[in-house]
Amino acid sequence: SKKGFIFDLDGVIVDTAKYHYLAWKKLAESIGVNFTERENEQLKGVSRVKSLEKILEWGNKSISEDDFMKLMAIKNDDYLTYINKMDKQEILPDVERVLNLLIQNNQGIALGSASKNAKTILKKVSLIHNFDAIVDGNDVVKGKPNPEVFLKAAKDLKVKPNQCIVFEDSVAGIQAANAADMISIGIGEAEILHEADFVFKDFTEMENSFLIELINE
Ligand code: G6P
Ligand code: MG
Repeated sequence: SKKGFIFDLDGVIVDTAKYHYLAWKKLAESIGVNFTERENEQLKGVSRVKSLEKILEWGNKSISEDDFMKLMAIKNDDYLTYINKMDKQEILPDVERVLNLLIQNNQGIALGSASKNAKTILKKVSLIHNFDAIVDGNDVVKGKPNPEVFLKAAKDLKVKPNQCIVFEDSVAGIQAANAADMISIGIGEAEILHEADFVFKDFTEMENSFLIELINE
């Protein structure tokens, strides 16, 4: 039957999580805030605005609205210097195998990302044409763990939420998928993503037979 397969972008399709980390770390240090990978984990799946709010909170800083906007722009400009260098080689291992299998089986394929740079990135890595629907940070009011982004993707695919499967690398994203009544598949470490229905280290660990089962369930 036709299911909806919804992919997160950062950390699932491409490893932009490392670029977000580098850009936030540089920004945090420029305002005297220490920023570790542990803290970065909590920013995965979280919007740009919320991310900066958290960094300021951790560093006990309060700044004007004006400076807030400036810092957001600095971070994104820095992030975009990494993005502009991206090409197809940055697609994570076996993502294309999974996409091709789903396409061959006439499944619905959507993007469900918090990023406002999602379309730019999908174009850079030449994957944009594979998606039947794209819902990103420009389309939603409530960010993950709120299920809005995934519910909107399901709607665009014309597939019921409980017929959707979500691939996510963030805790907030897994929570959003669960709240949307979708099957949640964590891509990353099982200890971190323990709320997911299934966890795979990466797509190389996910066999075609597993995907076929999801389709036929
Ligand atoms: C994804 C990433 C987050 C990022 C968010 C917004 O969810 O996991 O780390 O903050 O998108 O991205 P943007 O590209 O709009 O700054
Ligand atoms: Mg992600």
